[in-house]
Amino acid sequence: MRIPDGVEPEAAAAVPLAGLTALQALRDQGQMTAGSRVLILGAAGGVGHYAVQVARALDAGRVVASCSGRNASWVEGLGADRVLDYTRGEVDDIDERFDVILDIAGGARIAYLRSLLAPGGSLVLVGGPGDGMLLGPATRIFGGLIASRFRRERVVGVNATWSGPDLAILAAMLRDGCVRTVIHRIVGLADVPTAIAELEDGHVPGKFVVRPMSDEGTREPNNAPSWSGLNPRQRY
Ligand SMILES: NC(=O)c1ccc[n+]([C@@H]2O[C@H](COP(=O)([O-])OP(=O)(O)OC[C@H]3O[C@@H](n4cnc5c(N)ncnc54)[C@H](OP(=O)(O)O)[C@@H]3O)[C@@H](O)[C@H]2O)c1
Repeated sequence: MRIPDGVEPEAAAAVPLAGLTALQALRDQGQMTAGSRVLILGAAGGVGHYAVQVARALDAGRVVASCSGRNASWVEGLGADRVLDYTRGEVDDIDERFDVILDIAGGARIAYLRSLLAPGGSLVLVGGPGDGMLLGPATRIFGGLIASRFRRERVVGVNATWSGPDLAILAAMLRDGCVRTVIHRIVGLADVPTAIAELEDGHVPGKFVVRPMSDEGTREPNNAPSWSGLNPRQRY
């Protein structure tokens, strides 16, 4: 991916895996189209915060996102129409139906999420907590896929694949200001173990970025102070 002019290298470096996962989960597995109503569970994480913005850039009709209350305001600023605080039970009884659901955090039961699908909608299982199981989130995802073989709703997994054309789309979104990276912290090599431990805890907002050639150590990112005012919609 060629870094677009005006985009900080750290912001671009964070994009590939999480950004490709968000894009391919929405567009390919989720079959999202312009006007789709989208629910993103786990919107404050690496994949989720790109997913909110990519859904907007792909002209979603409505984006509902879940995260804890402390992240709600900036997630809303990424383009979510409604933010649900899962720590207050707001995900447990959602009064809307969706064309595409991205389950990134994996906290809700698959049968419940299936019930939130509009006719013809898709539930895309991206990840989730391991719950101590040998295969981590994979166990839940495979279980959901097997169960869905016997039902009418569409439940699919996602395995992000490397794609030059898709990276070019993400680069264009970065260039146009439709997608930004929220950087939690920029760390040097020595701080990687601490960063991984924090990631494993499951509550990192946005992305860690590693600067292996830097001796600066850990530093705060240069995130924009406000996330409001995404650029007008472009076509991707
Ligand atoms: N299938 C693929 O190709 C693929 C690719 C990349 C990643 N993944 C998987 O996707 C999952 C997420 O990855 P990631 O990098 O985005 O993780 P991450 O950055 O570690 O996600 C952490 C975020 O999840 C939120 N969260 C935790 N529990 C939640 C819940 N019950 N409801 C809503 N939000 C919750 C946290 O927000 P709060 O602090 O607000 O709680 C935190 O911001 C992982 O399981 C990963 O393995 C899959």
